[in-house]
Amino acid sequence: MSIAKPIPQHVAIIMDGNGRWAKQRGKERTEGHIAGVETIRQTLRAAVKHGVRYLTFYAFSTENWGRPEAEVNALMELLCKSVVSEAPELKKQGVRVRTIGERSRFSERVQYYLNQIEEQTAEGDRLVVALALNYSSRDELRRTMQCLARKVQQGELAPEAIDEQLISSHLDTGFMPDPDLVIRTSGEQRLSNFLLWQSSYAELYFPEVLWPDFTEEEFARALEVYASRDRRYGLVK
Ligand code: FPP
Repeated sequence: MSIAKPIPQHVAIIMDGNGRWAKQRGKERTEGHIAGVETIRQTLRAAVKHGVRYLTFYAFSTENWGRPEAEVNALMELLCKSVVSEAPELKKQGVRVRTIGERSRFSERVQYYLNQIEEQTAEGDRLVVALALNYSSRDELRRTMQCLARKVQQGELAPEAIDEQLISSHLDTGFMPDPDLVIRTSGEQRLSNFLLWQSSYAELYFPEVLWPDFTEEEFARALEVYASRDRRYGLVK
């Protein structure tokens, strides 16, 4: 009898290496991001196929506003364009799109398209895709602490009632379980302000490939690596 391999319920991905991929080909950095969207598309398909239920993509960090204006604008355009062009396929695959991060900093137009894709895919029940947009973990914790402090101040919450579960439920990711597996492509081995609270017991995987080269096979390999890990959560077997 074969034993079923454990499949991570939630995979979170730091898509790194678009710029280097483009540079290696003598192209503009934006071309790397365009290629990166195709990789997102393939990864979604692979996740549905393998039965992953939550997929989070670090698409735009709070720090990314500091990139050249042309690159920021190109990323915003790509985001708007992609959510419009991908909507039918996302619906077909049963994908529900959500976002984490503070959306109010985006233009009205970007916010409009994000609202649209969330509404259009609200019925999706096979895979939740969370796009981290204007997101960083420390910023999320700052906003969450402000929210809890306000509740205490207004007498709605006793300080002693603040436990780990309550904090988790107030984070942007409150609608998802913690990630089981965090992948960062391009060989860099750091979390860069991504899901720091939520990744406490996540398995980390750092493949060398650049994000545009992260194929369905690479995703399957990541799941193999995950299945081979021994998760102990601080306990002994
Ligand atoms: C990291 O590569 C990539 C990003 C900061 C942006 C990722 C965005 C997309 C793939 C497209 C837009 C998103 C959606 C959801 C449609 P890098 O530019 O830091 O690469 P480098 O380290 O090689 O310079």
